[in-house]
Amino acid sequence: MCAKPVKNDPKDVGTTGHVWDGIEELNNPLPRWWLWTFYLTIMFAIGYTIAYPAWPMLKGATQGLMGFSTRGEVAADIKKFDDANSAIKAKLVAADLVAIPKDAALNQYAMAAGAAVFRINCAPCHGAGAAGVKGKGYPNLLDNDWLYGGSLDAIHTTVTHGVRNTVDPDARSVGLYMPAWSDKATGAMADLATAKLTDAQVGQVVNFVLKISGQTADDAKATDGAKIFADDCAACHGPDGKGNRDMGSPNLTDAIWLYGGDEATLTATILSGRGGVMPSWGYAPKGAAPRLTEDQIRAVAVYVHALGGGE
Ligand code: HEC
Ligand code: HEC
Repeated sequence: MCAKPVKNDPKDVGTTGHVWDGIEELNNPLPRWWLWTFYLTIMFAIGYTIAYPAWPMLKGATQGLMGFSTRGEVAADIKKFDDANSAIKAKLVAADLVAIPKDAALNQYAMAAGAAVFRINCAPCHGAGAAGVKGKGYPNLLDNDWLYGGSLDAIHTTVTHGVRNTVDPDARSVGLYMPAWSDKATGAMADLATAKLTDAQVGQVVNFVLKISGQTADDAKATDGAKIFADDCAACHGPDGKGNRDMGSPNLTDAIWLYGGDEATLTATILSGRGGVMPSWGYAPKGAAPRLTEDQIRAVAVYVHALGGGE
């Protein structure tokens, strides 16, 4: 072996002067391989702190000559994934909307990307499972009851432009609300009402809505309410109350409610009016990017369409 023999006679090497219980510490030189490794680690450490962010300063750490940052690394990772998906994204944007679910590879990508977009952007209002928030006016997207339509195309349009928001001129139902009918109501929603209704008249039309939605109602009031409905409500909700998708006026004859079908909620809706707002996801304000890119909007539309209620 090339290592030098260790001398263990104090006369040969001397001692460090440390003595414990009569045992002396000999002053053997350190092995050369050990010393060199030690010097190398010091040199490496100095080089490392020059190359990489290291020393804490008043404002952040020294940057290092290599320009490395964990943030930069994440950005590079994201770009790598984006680049890897750029071909399929381009295909998604170019495809005929209705053809997407029929193309296995495109559909698989759209469903995965759409689920991620939904979790981040839509779940806060529509719920993580897309069942909506009962009574809050955030519709359930799982059923086959649609305000604006459940075809892929209709969903795509709703998501692209939103509903009654103040930014997108192509938003659905801009300026179109459920009017406030109370004879005490004032403001834009009251101005939309074609007539003023007394509390008693509202009670009558509420009973008519209870009746056409298959709930228990006061028949005498409902009969009077039918006339009010024909005069004041049918223009938007249709003569039989089945709603109108062109204006997003809901079907009042089913058991699915945006705000609620009980007597108290119906009364509140009719007295004060309603106007749900959904943001625009495709509208780009001057000089800014839209909230979602077209491939993201298409992906989430395919995802929502596939949830169960798609037409
Ligand atoms: C700030 C809350 C909010 C967010 C966020 C939101 N929505 Fe909505 N969404 C609404 C409201 C409110 C309505 C109902 C509008 C109305 O009353 O006419 C609606 C309606 C819809 C409709 C129409 C349903 C129908 O019956 O026709 C679809 C589809 C929809 N949203 C999808 C989405 C998707 C996809 C996202 C995410 C990209 C999203 N929404 C994000 C509030 C929201
Ligand atoms: C100008 C058109 C218009 C007229 C007229 C109108 N509505 Fe509406 N109504 C709407 C719209 C639009 C909505 C949905 C509001 C929303 O999406 O937030 C709505 C919602 C409702 C709802 C809530 C349904 C739910 O699912 O919670 C009820 C109830 C209702 N209307 C009853 C009536 C009655 C009764 C009248 C007549 C007194 C009437 N509406 C007249 C447009 C109209």
